[in-house]
Amino acid sequence: MSQDKKTTRKILITSALPYANGPIHLGHLVEYIQTDIWARFQRLSGNECHFVCADDAHGTPIMLRAEAEGIKPEELIARVSKEHQADFTGFKIHFDHYHSTHSDENKELSAYIYNQLKKNGHISRKIISQFYDTEKEMFLSDRFIKGTCPKCKADGQYGDNCESCGATYSPTELINPKSAVSGTTPVEKDSEHLFFELNNFAEMLKKWTTDGHLQSQVSNKLQEWFETGLRGWDISREAPYFGFEIPDETNKFFYVWLDAPVGYMASFKAYCKKTNLDFDEFWSKGSKTELYHFIGKDIIYFHSLFWPAMLDGAGFRKPDAIFAHGFLTVDGQKMSKSRGTFIMAKSYLEHLNPEYLRYYFAAKLNSKIDDLDLNLEDFVQRVNSDLVGKVVNIASRCAGFVNKKFDGKLVDEWSTKATQLYQSILAETDNIAELYEKREFAHAMREIMTLADIANEYIDETAPWVLAKEEGKEKELHESVSLGINLFRVLISLLSPVIPVTAEKARYFLQLEAYKWNDIQSPLMGHQITKFKPLMTRVEMVAVKKMVKASKADAKSAMPVQKTDNKILLEPIADEISFEDFTKVDFRIAKIINAEHIPKANKLLKLTLDIGVVEKQVFAGIKSAYKPEDLIGKLTVMVANLKPRKMSFGMSEGMVLAAGSGGEDLFLLNPDEGAIEGMRVK
Ligand code: MSP
Ligand code: ZN
Repeated sequence: MSQDKKTTRKILITSALPYANGPIHLGHLVEYIQTDIWARFQRLSGNECHFVCADDAHGTPIMLRAEAEGIKPEELIARVSKEHQADFTGFKIHFDHYHSTHSDENKELSAYIYNQLKKNGHISRKIISQFYDTEKEMFLSDRFIKGTCPKCKADGQYGDNCESCGATYSPTELINPKSAVSGTTPVEKDSEHLFFELNNFAEMLKKWTTDGHLQSQVSNKLQEWFETGLRGWDISREAPYFGFEIPDETNKFFYVWLDAPVGYMASFKAYCKKTNLDFDEFWSKGSKTELYHFIGKDIIYFHSLFWPAMLDGAGFRKPDAIFAHGFLTVDGQKMSKSRGTFIMAKSYLEHLNPEYLRYYFAAKLNSKIDDLDLNLEDFVQRVNSDLVGKVVNIASRCAGFVNKKFDGKLVDEWSTKATQLYQSILAETDNIAELYEKREFAHAMREIMTLADIANEYIDETAPWVLAKEEGKEKELHESVSLGINLFRVLISLLSPVIPVTAEKARYFLQLEAYKWNDIQSPLMGHQITKFKPLMTRVEMVAVKKMVKASKADAKSAMPVQKTDNKILLEPIADEISFEDFTKVDFRIAKIINAEHIPKANKLLKLTLDIGVVEKQVFAGIKSAYKPEDLIGKLTVMVANLKPRKMSFGMSEGMVLAAGSGGEDLFLLNPDEGAIEGMRVK
């Protein structure tokens, strides 16, 4: 179907709202870049596309984080909102409106939706028993409780599942449970909670989740959930909580996930106030507009069950589709602070051009929920060979001739052969539009690069640099470089959703008013272009390495209050000791002369340490962060006078010093460099 036959669509899209307790990292950017490319593609095609987002500002982690920083939650979320928006601007993510869930619009809409659900009989009450921190006077959700796994006996596990053996359990089953907030032993306490009766929507959801609104992988997964039965969803939290108070209740707040998706509506509502858009046209039942939510695979449950049910129960329209994507890995592994691959948006921007990453993600993204890998070598290679080597090169190969020999004017008419080549390129563009539309960006990028290859071959064949030296070849030369520039114009138009800044520079060079998908149907004939300035420089591996190094350093200096997976770790500070106590500790610099795995040990490595006067054998719980071979020969610091302890593997004659939040975020101290850097194991 040709684009101009379509009528203008009205589309509202969202990306998931980032939590206001931490910075934007490259993992988040997969989503914001994906959504932004799609939005820009829609606008390029002539559709009305509104892209809104907001910070997700509520919940216990944000409350505790503010407390830890000694500021009010409002101050924290104001600061983080600025940081997030600066990062998004840096990556050219163009939101039409960026809001906060801690806003009047959201308060009003959340209350409205809740009251509707209540009025329609979808809210129930139940007394539940939960762990309670008597010192902090707060109820503890699963992730604020740590203890020993009842199955494998691994220490330091969260209240809902064990990271060591994968067991799931309820927090009351943990051995020796402790509050992660105060370190005290929690008690069980009853309180009344409000539940959203998801089961009332079972029929609607069964249909909706299999009706083409979800990707098939997602839809299949959900059917498993239906089999186990839909349970009521606990939507209330007791004070203290940073969020909205529930209407007509005392000391009860909406659970953050109740008002978070309402934040999509609230952001749009605030946007409607700035523009003259009609909120109801987009949200009322039977709306003719389109609504899509882009999300990561970890939050599917909220978006494909709770959210449609909430909308339905409160009398609003449901989304047309939920577009879920996979998670980002770097060099084949989960992003890791210690490896320097947990890269913040800000650190990236300090070292590299954002459009490199936009293009690389586009070249990797498809419509599935599989994870995608940022391979740093491939990143450099791909960007250089595709964007710089293929696309930008076309313009730089032709521009000089047009400007020097023809005063910057493209040819008025060209041969049938040229028309045919131009048309053959155009013939591919409907397919590329469809690939964009279906979020098959990787495939679209491949097709575009194939067209770039064809354009470069044409230039190679006609060899303008040869024609320029020959007598009487002006006409051929003019046609060759004019077609070259025209093909470049097609390619850069097709790529403009992905690399908007480069496209903007090219727009000036090409002297175009704007990019429109349909405009490429007519080639630029007799058109005046202007001086060519380099559009994009090559990525240097050195810059990538610097970025990784800086990220490693960041991870070390800012020892995490927040653990990688959004899990807060606020380890309590141990009891005070006296200076005399401290001086009893004999620290020594030790050379690790051997390090090895211990069969059957989950956490320990066996180290042989040389402290000059004597060799010591130490069992250290650092297996999650280091490979033995990376430690041998390194220096570290040890407590040399710790009373030897008999362990099942042998005698442990001291202790090495490490710091970090655990798992792979564990840093063995090194007297020279701060921490021993090793290739971390998963
Ligand atoms: N606040 C919730 C979303 C509420 S939406 C009503 C949340 N926030 S988040 O900051 O943790 O994540 C924001 C988005 O980024 C989510 O869609 C999440 O899936 C995505 N990603 C976070 N880390 C990611 C990767 N490592 N890789 C890809 N996407 C990731 O969830
Ligand atoms: Zn376990």
